[in-house]
Amino acid sequence: MEKPAEFDSLLAAAQSVAKNAIAPHSDFQVGAAILDDNGQIHVGCNVENSSYGLTVCAERNAVGAMAAAGSRTIRCLVLFTPTDAPVTPCGACRQVLAEFGLSAPVYCACASGQVDSYLVSDLLPQAFRF
Ligand code: THU
Repeated sequence: MEKPAEFDSLLAAAQSVAKNAIAPHSDFQVGAAILDDNGQIHVGCNVENSSYGLTVCAERNAVGAMAAAGSRTIRCLVLFTPTDAPVTPCGACRQVLAEFGLSAPVYCACASGQVDSYLVSDLLPQAFRF
């Protein structure tokens, strides 16, 4: 999938915000950067909680930042994980991403430099919507 002109900025933003992740339980720091349909970048990192189920992933926090900034549509998202191979968004994040960017590409980047890309609609076929 062809990368957008903003890819390098999005990757830098995702990598940088991953350093702010609050991940004392998993020690897995994740960053996400969304490019919205106005060309603005919104970032999020994972925030864990000692009540583990309340943890919020980087992607969903980036969607929250986008909404707070007044944007509603994801043009693309770059996910950064500190892994050798790329990681894809969890099921809960796929559902949230589907509502704001079903046709958006997701670029899954990692520490080795490998980047895999998928459309949200391919990550979550037959997404629930109403
Ligand atoms: N996590 C994310 O933030 N995004 C993903 O795509 C995968 C998982 C977080 C949740 C938790 O804080 C940690 O990574 C380990 O699952």
